[in-house]
Amino acid sequence: MKIGIFGTGIVGQTIAEKVADLGHEVMIGTRNVEALLAKSNPDSYGRPPFKEWLNARSGIQVATLDETAASCTLLINAMHGMGTIQALGSIDPSHLSGKILLDIANPLDFSQGFPPTLAICNTDSLGEQIQRTFPELKVVKSLNTMNANLMVHPRAIDGDQTVFLSGNDSAAKETVKSLLNSFGWKEREMIDLGDISTARGTEQLLPIWVRIYAGKGTSLFNFRIVFG
Ligand SMILES: NC(=O)c1ccc[n+]([C@@H]2O[C@H](COP(=O)([O-])OP(=O)(O)OC[C@H]3O[C@@H](n4cnc5c(N)ncnc54)[C@H](OP(=O)(O)O)[C@@H]3O)[C@@H](O)[C@H]2O)c1
Repeated sequence: MKIGIFGTGIVGQTIAEKVADLGHEVMIGTRNVEALLAKSNPDSYGRPPFKEWLNARSGIQVATLDETAASCTLLINAMHGMGTIQALGSIDPSHLSGKILLDIANPLDFSQGFPPTLAICNTDSLGEQIQRTFPELKVVKSLNTMNANLMVHPRAIDGDQTVFLSGNDSAAKETVKSLLNSFGWKEREMIDLGDISTARGTEQLLPIWVRIYAGKGTSLFNFRIVFG
């Protein structure tokens, strides 16, 4: 499968590495190829500049968002939550048509510092906004409730944990489940919450996620739903 990843931060890089290791063709989409490759300072996590990361990996291509959408069959949104709608708007809609978008982004607003607030919540979600704005896409929200490393290395924590899925298209959710399974997620750990409006619930887990992170000083934790 040719997988296109929008977003060049820690989530985009982590997912790109994993899907490349699994043997998929991978393209990373950025808003500005030249500016991205010209970066020479470590990112906010202290990771090397993007070009250095890229040079250490063979086979991962970098392109514009539009080129990435045009040439890939499965798309993944790992962009800044509040920049997502505008960035996706730069893509020719015909390049999105009928494609699955696994949306990992969260609508976090850090403009007032920590803790961030949710810029979209209660009666709406970023997942729904993407689906409404780009009806040609089949949006599946998932993986947004854990850190980037756990998304692709779920066995880094002992025992079962939970990954949620939200989306209107059942077949698209099955495709995403297969991808998650290849990352190491077990079928019993996946909870399909229903249509894309259920993304409100998982995006609204972020306020508690950031407080656990700050309070415990680690991002190596996850939610586990226990049924009686
Ligand atoms: N970090 C985590 O562990 C984690 C966990 C769960 C969910 N998430 C969610 O996953 C997404 C990616 O997180 P991240 O930490 O990898 O990176 P991020 O800092 O949120 O940004 C990722 C990329 O988004 C692109 N982008 C598009 N529009 C933007 C805008 N208006 N402002 C800034 N950047 C914009 C940039 O790539 P270009 O400049 O190359 O276009 C940037 O490198 C976020 O929505 C985040 O909430 C993150």
